This record gives sequence, structure tokens and C-alpha cells, in this order.
Amino acid sequence: MFHFGADYYPEHWPESRWPTDARLMQEAGFTVVRLAEFAWTKIEPSPGKYHFAWLDRAIDLLAAHGISVLLGTPTASPPAWLMNQDETLFRVQRDGRRHSYGNRRGYCPNHPDYHAHSRRIVTVLAEHYAGNENVIGWQIDNEFGDPCYCEICRRAFHEFLKEKYQTLDELNTRWGTDFWSHIYTDWAQIPLPMEVISASDPSLELDFKRFASQSYVRFQQLQIDILREKSPGKPITHNFMEFSYDQINYFDLARSLDFVALDSYPRGFWSPKLAPNPAHIALDLDAARGLKQKNFWMMEQQSGPSGAHYVGETPRPGEIRLWAYQSIAHGADAILFFRWRTCRFGVEQYWHGILDHAGLPNRRYEEVKRMGSELKLLAEIAGSKPQAQTAILVSPDSRFAFHIQPNNAAFNYKQHVRDIYAPLHRRHVTVDILSESADFSAYRLLFAPALYVLPQALAEKLKQFVAQGGTLVLTPRSGVKDEHNLVVDAPLPGLLTELVGAVVEEYDSPAPDMQNHLEFSLPGLTAQPSALGWRDILRPATARVIACYGRDYYAGKPAIVLNQYGQGQVLYIGTFSDETLYEALTDWLLTLSNVSPVLPVSSSIEVTQRGDFYFLLNHSAQTETVQLPRKMFNLLTTQPVETLALAAHEVAILKSV
Ligand code: GLA
Ligand code: ZN
Repeated sequence: MFHFGADYYPEHWPESRWPTDARLMQEAGFTVVRLAEFAWTKIEPSPGKYHFAWLDRAIDLLAAHGISVLLGTPTASPPAWLMNQDETLFRVQRDGRRHSYGNRRGYCPNHPDYHAHSRRIVTVLAEHYAGNENVIGWQIDNEFGDPCYCEICRRAFHEFLKEKYQTLDELNTRWGTDFWSHIYTDWAQIPLPMEVISASDPSLELDFKRFASQSYVRFQQLQIDILREKSPGKPITHNFMEFSYDQINYFDLARSLDFVALDSYPRGFWSPKLAPNPAHIALDLDAARGLKQKNFWMMEQQSGPSGAHYVGETPRPGEIRLWAYQSIAHGADAILFFRWRTCRFGVEQYWHGILDHAGLPNRRYEEVKRMGSELKLLAEIAGSKPQAQTAILVSPDSRFAFHIQPNNAAFNYKQHVRDIYAPLHRRHVTVDILSESADFSAYRLLFAPALYVLPQALAEKLKQFVAQGGTLVLTPRSGVKDEHNLVVDAPLPGLLTELVGAVVEEYDSPAPDMQNHLEFSLPGLTAQPSALGWRDILRPATARVIACYGRDYYAGKPAIVLNQYGQGQVLYIGTFSDETLYEALTDWLLTLSNVSPVLPVSSSIEVTQRGDFYFLLNHSAQTETVQLPRKMFNLLTTQPVETLALAAHEVAILKSV
């Protein structure tokens, strides 16, 4: 069975309204709501005085309507009475400014007193609800956030470095502090990489990013330990942000959770008014599934216009349901819409939910309700998993390092992964997003984009993957750095040179107006995509040339090479380029690596597979006709089908007959 519901804030409404909410939720087919992730002061209005009665009543009322509850630990938004005790509880930004009360996520994640207060509130919550069967799980905090640059964090950073390097000699060597003779003779001398320093050491910066990430992982663990002890048997999650968020190593953050939850806002008010890109949403979803290689929950599925000072466009008819099915199509086993009802006050006054401020059933409610009744026909799908032959390896360390040194102003790691992903998505190819610790052996085609920070063990693992018959695709700036963010003492791509069968003879980091393009030497490939963002000029040893540059002093020199290695092959692409390059290469690559689409359907709709089930999603505003390769069974109409006319924003869910 799928979980279905919304993020609900009963504390924002008179209690006399709650029964109406519960009834409307039940009528919409809700099975679960998330509660209380920002309700610390409502639960503890003054130090040590706990008020659970209101929350107990809300939970009981929901239970009476067949709706379970996932509770948030409220540490993302602490009480004013607590934070005003001591200004050092507030986080310091990179520019040196300290947060003050009035927002959320403003706490220092390493502050011992904040830890103590968090332990206390999580303990009382866990003890109070451990025996409540209607509380089915926990969400820790809310969208863990950004680094803190305070004195407490500086000292904690020193401890992190001591544990990692043991001696200052070791740290000085690994960081290369001979440069500008930044040699440290006492741990306490090591600074934080703040903006007051014009540019800081890339090795120090990378370790600080790892430290800042670990700070949240540990703060989360502190809460997990309490919940596991005091409230055993209730699964624990955290709500992660989309693929664009890269301040935390999300693989680390996911490790000791029971499952991952994602927040998704395809029509965010902050983006230019472009139609949501189905491939970008799909990548966010696959990335969420990839964090634990496991199905996930959609904890905040957009259900209304988003907004703060400005109001974003409203989801078009059908879009809310379409996005929710897209989440399921990529492995969500629960859909919770953000939020049940638009709040009349506060920072998110214009961040709309299903119901508008007035709280009456509306177009969006009817759409959600329709989905609620449909899910009853789809129960057998829950728990099934997408199976991929293709994967993209994502390196959080490389992302951190590119933050520090983007190399070329036109380069953006997230966009690079999107450029690779979108043509696969268009071809209905299932993609897994992997960390470097994943097992690669199940895949035929593996992309390892911009593997900038490359540990020896990963290089060996990639060699093994190829030697055993895999097809690996590498892109520029791979193998450039060691784990300490030092440039390797070897021709590029460093540890990957033998595998690639070529070296980077020299590179050019072009200005935006320095146009160039690629010319392929593959039969039938006449496209000439631009060579943007970076240009490695390659000298093949064992590799064969696939494309050359079209212009400049390196016209005719190799830009893309293919090398046989063991039973497999490696494609090294020497330019970042854009989606047009991957659009040109993807059919050839799929044939080369023997990867097939989930269904051979030639249409612009999205097609995915989970277990024995196929999802066909029409993201366009027009009807799309789809010819299926064989007769199938349509679970929503309960009819067999071979040709489908899928209306704008419509969905079909099929299984084989
Ligand atoms: C995030 C948060 C929510 C809410 C929404 C909308 O995803 O988790 O609490 O703030 O954004 O802004
Ligand atoms: Zn701090």
C-alpha cells in the first residue's frame, strides 16, 4: 500500500476546525500526515514545561479518521526563549555575520548547549509517543542546512583535523602548507575558510566542507540514537532537498536513516518562469532513490503556487497529480503534499498548499482526491523497485571541490549531470545514481562525470568495472586531484590514464566567446555540438579517436577517445559541452553498451518501469498518442490497451498481460 497524505499544521488553526480537516483528508483517501516539525515552542512553551495535550488530541482525531502520523523532531526551529539565552547558539555565516532570531535553521550544529536542548526535546517526544501506535515514524529536523563558522565550530574543526591527521606534520604535508609558508605549528592556529580571507587554501577548504557536512550527520545521529533507544521500531527519516543541494554529503546523511524522504517543488517561485523540466525532476527523484539504493518517501510534494515576496504560477490542472505519479514512477512509496492548507500568517503566507487560505475544497483538492481513490487500484505496485542497467556516479567530494574552484566560470556540476541524464531520460532508460561505495557490477553503462577528486581505491574499482566488461564514460577534470585536493603529480587524467589509453597533452579553459565545436569520426554522426566550458587536447596511446575539435590551434586534435580495456571500454570526453553533445552520442552509447529502454515507445512522454509496472507520463500540454509494442493492461481504467491517447498532464499505469 502507498502512504498518501500531507504536511499538516493543526497548531495554525482553531481546534474547532480540526474535525473538518480530518474529514476532508479522509475523503481524499489520506493515510498519513506529517506533524509538528516546527512545533517546539508549542510543545515546550517555557523551559521544561511540556504541553502534549493539543498534539495528542490532534493525533487521536486523525486516528479516528484512519490517518497515521509521522512526527518531526522540532530542532530546525527552536524557541525564542531558548535562543535568546546565549547568542553563541546562533550560526555564523561565511561572511562573519551571526544569525539572530526570526528565521529557522539558524542554530550552530556543534554547540554543546544546543545539543543538550535537542537531546531533551527529542527524549521527551520519543518517550511520550513510543507507545502510540498511530505514530508510525519520525522525521529528524528539517532540510539540514549550511555550514557554521563560529568559534565553537573552529575548535570542533581542529578536533576533526586531529582525528584525521594525527600529527601537524602529516596535515602540513597533505595540505601542502609550504605554499606561502602557511605551516601550522599548533592546531589552534588553523583558520576557518571565511570570506574575510581573500582566498583560502583548497585543501583546508575541502576538509572544512567535509567537517561541516559531518557536523550535521553527527547532529542527526545524536537524535537517531535517542529515537532508536526510546521509541524502538519506528522508522526514522529526514527530508532531503533536490539534487542541486550540495553543502552536505547526502550519502553520509542517508546512511543510518531507515529511508530517505525528498522535498520537491517543480514550479518554484525562485526559478525563471519556465515550464518545469521533467528530466530535471526525474533526476532529483533518482538521486533520492540513489542515496540508499532504496525506495523513498516524497515528504513535500508541491501542491499549490509557491511563494514568499512574489507568488509563483499555480500548478496547471493535472500537474500536481502528474508530479506525484512521477515520484512514484521513480520509486516513491509515499506521497505527502506540502502543505494541507495555506497558512494565513508567517513567512510562508504565500507558500500555498492543497487548500487555499479559506480552507474550502478547490480544484487542487479534487485532483488530490482523485489520486487518493486511484491509489487503491495500485496497491500491488508499492515496494517494487526500478531496475537500472545504467548509472551515474556522483562524487560529493568532487562537488565540494568544484565549489571551491569551479575551474571554468561556465562549468556547473549539477548542470553537467543534467546534460548527461536528460538524453537518457528522453529515451526511457532507467538510471541509478550511485555513490563511490556502491557495487558497480550490476550495470552495463556507467557515467562518472567530472571525477575531480579521485581516491586510489575508486580508480581501481573503475578499472575493475571496465575490465569485467562495463562501459565507462569519463568527462573532463577527472583524476586531477588527490583526496587532499592536491593536483596529482602525473599527466592527466592521473590514475585513470592507463584506463583511458590517452593523456591530456594540454588543456584550454575557454572564455565564453571562444567558440569551438566537435567533429565526429563515427559513421552517421553528423552533429557538430559545441565544445564549451573546457577543452582537453588528447594524445591517444591505445585509444581510438571518436571526435576532434573543429577550430583554434588544436583543430583536428582529439577531443573524445574510446579505449578497449579488458572486456570493456572507456569513453573519455575532453569537453564539458552541453546537452547537445550527449543527445548526439547517447544512441551510439546505448548500442555500444547493450542497454535498452524500458519500453520501445517513440514519443515525447516519460516512460519508467518499477517491477512489472510501467508508468507513462505526459508532461506536455497536448494530447500524445502512444503505440505500445504489445497489448498491456491499464490499471487505472482496468482495460487492456495497445494504443493510448494520453491527454495533457495525464498518466497511464500499465502492466504486462
Ligand atoms: C521546504 C521546507 C518546508 C517549507 C517548504 C516551502 O521544503 O521543508 O518547511 O518551508 O520548503 O518553503
Ligand atoms: Zn558553530
